[in-house]
Amino acid sequence: MTGVIRPGEVIVDEAGAIAQLHGIGVQRVGDRFYAWGENKAAGSTFTAVSCYSSTDLATWRFEGEALTAGEGDLAADRIVERPKVLEHPDGHFVMFLHIDSADYADARVGFAVADAPAGPYRYLGSERPLGNLSRDIGVYQEDGVGYLLSEDRVNGLHLYRLAPDYLSVEAIVATTLKDDGSHGYESPTLIREGGLYYLFGSDLTGWAMNDNMVSTATDLAGPWSPWAGIAPAGSATFESQMSVVVPVDGGHVYIGDRWTPDDLRTSPAVWLPIEIGDGVATLRWRDEWTIADLRGAAAPGDDA
Ligand code: DGJ
Repeated sequence: MTGVIRPGEVIVDEAGAIAQLHGIGVQRVGDRFYAWGENKAAGSTFTAVSCYSSTDLATWRFEGEALTAGEGDLAADRIVERPKVLEHPDGHFVMFLHIDSADYADARVGFAVADAPAGPYRYLGSERPLGNLSRDIGVYQEDGVGYLLSEDRVNGLHLYRLAPDYLSVEAIVATTLKDDGSHGYESPTLIREGGLYYLFGSDLTGWAMNDNMVSTATDLAGPWSPWAGIAPAGSATFESQMSVVVPVDGGHVYIGDRWTPDDLRTSPAVWLPIEIGDGVATLRWRDEWTIADLRGAAAPGDDA
């Protein structure tokens, strides 16, 4: 049976527990969607990266803790955020993580590998990509090449090409800034649709939500267009901060966090179809929807 998705509600897994899918990453592997999220049981510091799987994006089976707290970068007093996974062309899985100290001064990207999507992942270490600060991250893959999106507070939002083994960063493909040039966006995600790349990001407002933005380009190296809103201006993206936009069944799904800083573990999530085409990305509110609604998703301008 196809489950119903209710944007703005807490995600509950098949066992009735609050799914720890904060700062989520999603990939389709075979006939299932796998999702990895920050387990916020301890608040902002590290507990684990939790893994779940689903066939309909509504019903989530807990697959176990994919990466657990330990020593060094993974110590319980550290920040480990925004787990994102790519399936390497050789068939194994690489997890990318925002690794930080509790004061967010370390600003590094971490790498872990596993033979199966749910893990367990073996942590390999972290780096400052090409020497740059790296906080919020996203990933992208095309023709077997892996890319890392990474927010650098000094220089902007970088799109890096990964080394062939995906375990380090090789080169900067593009760096984008907010239109006023003040800084780059964070919580980045990138998709390709209809011959255009769509790069999404959120402004730098801590746990507070803001109007998330999109920029487009015909080439990953740019030029990237001026940024445009994706949801009604002033709605703070329906009170959410994006984590990923996921291609699903010919449509796309926006997934964002509605952070509740006093109890991050119970932060609700906003999952909505996002209409993408002709250089425009449009998020419209729905009280509920199912994966079946994505098939033949409406074009921008049509009523959802
Ligand atoms: C915004 C980031 O997008 C989140 O992942 C988290 O790091 C918060 N800042 C912490 O304030």
